[in-house]
Amino acid sequence: MMIEYHIDDNFKSMWEKKILGWYSINKRNLPWRTPENQNFYRIWVSEVMLQQTKVSTVIPFYEKFIRKWPTIEHFYEANLDEILKIWEGLGYYKRAQNLFKAKELLKNKQIDISSKKLRELPGVGEYISSSISAILNDEPCVVIDGNIRRIIARVFNLNINDKKINTKIKDISIKLTPKYQNGNYCQSLMDLANLVCKSKNPECSSCPISYTCKSKGKKTISKKAKIIPIKTTVALVINFKNFFLVEKTKKDLLQNLFTFPLTNFEKNDNKNLDKYLENSVSSWMVENNVNEPYKYVGQVTHKFSHFHLKVLIVKIRLNERLKLRNFIWLTTKELKKKPISTLMLKIKKKVGC
Ligand code: ADE
Repeated sequence: MMIEYHIDDNFKSMWEKKILGWYSINKRNLPWRTPENQNFYRIWVSEVMLQQTKVSTVIPFYEKFIRKWPTIEHFYEANLDEILKIWEGLGYYKRAQNLFKAKELLKNKQIDISSKKLRELPGVGEYISSSISAILNDEPCVVIDGNIRRIIARVFNLNINDKKINTKIKDISIKLTPKYQNGNYCQSLMDLANLVCKSKNPECSSCPISYTCKSKGKKTISKKAKIIPIKTTVALVINFKNFFLVEKTKKDLLQNLFTFPLTNFEKNDNKNLDKYLENSVSSWMVENNVNEPYKYVGQVTHKFSHFHLKVLIVKIRLNERLKLRNFIWLTTKELKKKPISTLMLKIKKKVGC
């Protein structure tokens, strides 16, 4: 196998010195970095929120969460609906469910914050477990997220379409992980990726490791564009007077959130949306024993991580509060107190309720 990189002690000590030196001057002031937030609970919440979500989006959610449950003991008392309500709008709701499951397991236990042990918790994978134990204990475990991956791929000029890219990045990252100060080191890389080695316009002239970067000057490293599938669904906004029909959905990406009835998410070539709408609404009505006229209101779209969803919205007015399996009737005031998704907010806005 061709050796594409060589990391010896000299390389490593210069690398560490440059990166940590840069960090001591340029470190971002982030809420989870303040001294009072350096405990397992607060770092855990921050790392879970930061997974797949931008720092600027996370900050207000993190602050709200910590205000509501300042310590893990407070958090032990939280129920799933409350956690989902605080999470409303942050997306990837599975994370909130996993926080709930994990805290139920941790309740009244001595918490071991080694990366190996943390990985046993729901929702805590290799990245989160390593970053928590690096940040809190300086455990010299390798921390790799998408941003750190970009730095390594650039510095070592790795071909990101190479099938072995992940193994190579891991191998290099293990070799570069410092014995001491790994908490500062991994957070330096996060800040460097965010402030300097940005995906679109890297600022190589202010980069502390440009001296050794093999792709310096190449503006972007782009991956083959992924084709994101489009799926379609119908949202049925059904009311009787000021009551709306909602369910605590079992749909994977929105699990346990309150939604208007949604038909299956289906790949659709968009050729005959009228027919699709008519078929979907009538199958739903047959299945649920409803027989009333519907009115098409419009559509909204929503981006999930691996597909885009087009939602066709219909309104149906009922003359009685039918009892329907799996559904409940809520007034808009009651619905406001329940956890809902951003998608649901968009639908509510479109129908004006
Ligand atoms: N992204 C993931 N974890 C982070 C952290 N601790 N600081 C800044 N950005 C991050």
